[in-house]
Amino acid sequence: MATARPAGRLWIAAALLVLIALAAGGWRLERRAELARRLLTTPADAAASHPDLVRFASAEARPLFQHDCAACHGRDMKGNKAIGAPDLTDRAWVYGKGSVFDIERTILYGIRSGQKRGHDVTEMPAFGERGMLTPAQIDDVVQYLLAINHRPHDSSAALRGHDVFVGPASCNDCHAFDAKGDAYYGAPDLTDNVWIYGGDTQSLWNSIYYGRHGVMPGWRGKLSLEQIRALAVYIHARSMSKAN
Ligand code: HEC
Ligand code: HEC
Repeated sequence: MATARPAGRLWIAAALLVLIALAAGGWRLERRAELARRLLTTPADAAASHPDLVRFASAEARPLFQHDCAACHGRDMKGNKAIGAPDLTDRAWVYGKGSVFDIERTILYGIRSGQKRGHDVTEMPAFGERGMLTPAQIDDVVQYLLAINHRPHDSSAALRGHDVFVGPASCNDCHAFDAKGDAYYGAPDLTDNVWIYGGDTQSLWNSIYYGRHGVMPGWRGKLSLEQIRALAVYIHARSMSKAN
């Protein structure tokens, strides 16, 4: 009986390889679809405790972050003080406590984005520009902020600054009496020495004199719900990681 010629055997081997590659590709696609489905159907906060979902979400979110978020939050996710885009790798959160659910909500609807469900309760008033505080009063409040962050300060100015904080300026209305902030108002904690707009005396002074009005776009409709979930799981994992 004639055996297949060498060229014939090569063809059979090549065809087998193609079949195996197709099967592997199909399996991978199916596995991907299955992970994507689980990512969306698992409750947001529970997704963070499934390592396979976190790996899958991170692989999907990394390029999305570079494409859609890095321009403001930086390629390393560490924020940009000049435009008030916060560091997303630390554990200081303005809106909520940094759970996947909180992060996802912010990505979906944005902040002062003009979207109905976006975070938009108030903003940081321009106390100096609007004549509500004098430059000297602002100097004193800045010394008070340094004091409550355990940084070098002028203590008599800080005492006067405290009276301004809870007196004519009512900073406590939004930032709370203990200055630890309020997620509902989007007023940051002023005691953790983490600053969206910079913590040097000039930046603090500018925040109070000129006010702040940070805008974060909402992504609902621009990204798919699965992509938004992936970003939220990825950012949450980065913020919890010790490697930051
Ligand atoms: C045009 C600039 C811009 C882009 C693009 C942008 N952000 Fe933001 N983002 C901001 C600003 C500014 C804030 C802070 C707003 C404030 O608190 O006043 C913010 C806040 C956030 C917060 C809330 C942080 C906290 O402390 O609660 C999250 C989460 C976030 N951004 C994620 C993203 C993700 C994910 C993307 C990409 C899909 C993105 N951002 C794209 C500007 C941007
Ligand atoms: C009406 C509510 C409101 C009042 C009153 C208010 N703030 Fe704010 N403040 C905010 C909000 C909201 C932000 C965040 C602004 C943003 O990110 O766009 C903020 C931001 C700041 C920041 C910047 C923080 C950072 O991380 O860079 C400082 C500093 C600050 N406030 C100090 C004060 C002081 C001092 C007073 C009183 C003189 C005061 N605020 C009164 C709402 C308020």
